[in-house]
Amino acid sequence: MKALIASGGRGTRLRPITHTQNKHLIPIANKPILYYAIEAAVDAGIKEVGIVHNADSLEVPNYVGDGSKWGIRIAYIPQETPGGLAQVVQLAENFIGKDNFIFYLGDNMVVGGIKKFIDDFQKNSCNCLLTLAKVKDPERFGVPEIKDGKVIRVEEKPKSPKSQYAVAGIYVYDHHIFEAVKSLKPSPRGELEISDAHQYLIDKGYSVGYTEITGWWKDTGKPVDLLEANRLILDNIKPRNDGEVDKQSDVAGKVIIEKGAKIINSKVRGPAIIGKDCVIENSYIGPFTSIGDRTEVRNSEVEYSIVLRDCKVLSVGIRIEGSILGNDVEIVEANGKPRVHRFMIGDQSRVEVA
Ligand code: G1P
Repeated sequence: MKALIASGGRGTRLRPITHTQNKHLIPIANKPILYYAIEAAVDAGIKEVGIVHNADSLEVPNYVGDGSKWGIRIAYIPQETPGGLAQVVQLAENFIGKDNFIFYLGDNMVVGGIKKFIDDFQKNSCNCLLTLAKVKDPERFGVPEIKDGKVIRVEEKPKSPKSQYAVAGIYVYDHHIFEAVKSLKPSPRGELEISDAHQYLIDKGYSVGYTEITGWWKDTGKPVDLLEANRLILDNIKPRNDGEVDKQSDVAGKVIIEKGAKIINSKVRGPAIIGKDCVIENSYIGPFTSIGDRTEVRNSEVEYSIVLRDCKVLSVGIRIEGSILGNDVEIVEANGKPRVHRFMIGDQSRVEVA
């Protein structure tokens, strides 16, 4: 069993963060989203992983490396232009050969790992195993139609979904998927759709099984999904303190404080993670907040937010909530008179002021 992980695309719905950073490298609980996919493969005993990345950028290969830090081998497969997930599979044919493989969209996150999906695939001798998750908005996803315990149809982003399920971005295949992806024509949105490949397998009589994901699953395509995934991951952390907390501070609940971080006269209410060499002074860090390395928060309050590395949040007079701050962002008190808001904000940013 090999793993194929998709890390391409432009992440347009996560701009401006994705102007300077691949969306799969955005941290959730201070760890890149993509690492959760790699670690799920490692935990399932997989030793060979292929990562498809945008051909015009070596950001992912440079950041992730050759896999030795997990004791596995990672191969990189460039994708010239984003042409859909079925194209990603096409590109991987040489890497996969005749092996079975798990195809994992690098922006999907699932609790409990992927071993169960591989076991179900093998137990049921499937050619393809889909993982399904019950969602409120199936029209955003590939949607299965199920009859007598069988998937009889899969539609991509249907206007009238035939079930409450989304096909999650974690699939297990044997080599027949290559026959399917090579038969496809681009969809109305100009992509080779993975849902059409699944429909091809069904139409040709191959065995397409499914497993329901009963824990949580998230496709982190939008800012609210990132915050929600961050909440869910933080909810399951093991607290530890490798930093310094002074006597005037109060740290409650599950909190990770990394090496070199200083909590001074502040209240941290977990679950939360404070990155390496951060300074939190005269401040409040509320539940479900991740603070990246070397960030300073002074005389301010931050809750239910993701703050990346090297930020400064200084003397902000109102609690920051439900927010995502990129790397090197500064939110500081405006000095002098008159009292003003003063902005220096990049393209496609969004600011809400009270
Ligand atoms: C893709 C697939 C869709 C699947 C979803 C899961 O959608 O096309 O079938 O349900 O991933 O995350 P996209 O992210 O391209 O909108």
